[in-house]
Amino acid sequence: MIDHHFSLPVYSSVVEDNLFNVLKNDVYSYIQNNEAKINNFNTSDWDCNTISSITAEEQFKSEALENILKTHFNSYLTDLNVTAHVTTSGMWVNIADPGSYQEQHNHIGNNNIFSGVIWIDAKEDSGDLIFRNPYNNLLNILPKNTKIHSRVIYRPYEKGICLFPAFLEHSVRVNKSGSRRISVSFNIAQIINKNV
Ligand SMILES: [Fe+2]
Repeated sequence: MIDHHFSLPVYSSVVEDNLFNVLKNDVYSYIQNNEAKINNFNTSDWDCNTISSITAEEQFKSEALENILKTHFNSYLTDLNVTAHVTTSGMWVNIADPGSYQEQHNHIGNNNIFSGVIWIDAKEDSGDLIFRNPYNNLLNILPKNTKIHSRVIYRPYEKGICLFPAFLEHSVRVNKSGSRRISVSFNIAQIINKNV
């Protein structure tokens, strides 16, 4: 008998139209009011050329996003047999012009537990989200034809949402579409058990 233990939960779904439309408005207003400052964001510390508002003076905030996360984290955590409220520890806007990419990274730090992304404007060739298999120490010693996958790919699309453990390494492929990919990202740092 072979038991496959320790599966890793990555959630994907579609955001409801009404909340998505409000969120999209929030994102576009934020970009319009802050674009000059966001464009000055210095990404030299990271090997990536995607513009992010993560260190912008005025942080992105959206009640619609909070409501979207309530619903989707509820589904995600219920599947893990967890009944809890989540609190965001940060949310930011990403602007990936054609040719932009995001290097491999994780969201460890600041007590982050889960992270996620919602694609606001995305086409199928505007940059796949790639998760790396965290069991690299096993993969590195196995022949290349092992049936264990070294990565999984999520293709972006408008209204798509993806939630994942903050420690999971990920990257975004080059935006090969002719237009901007816009997304919002967020971290969850607190889970409060509803039964407490
Ligand atoms: Fe990320």
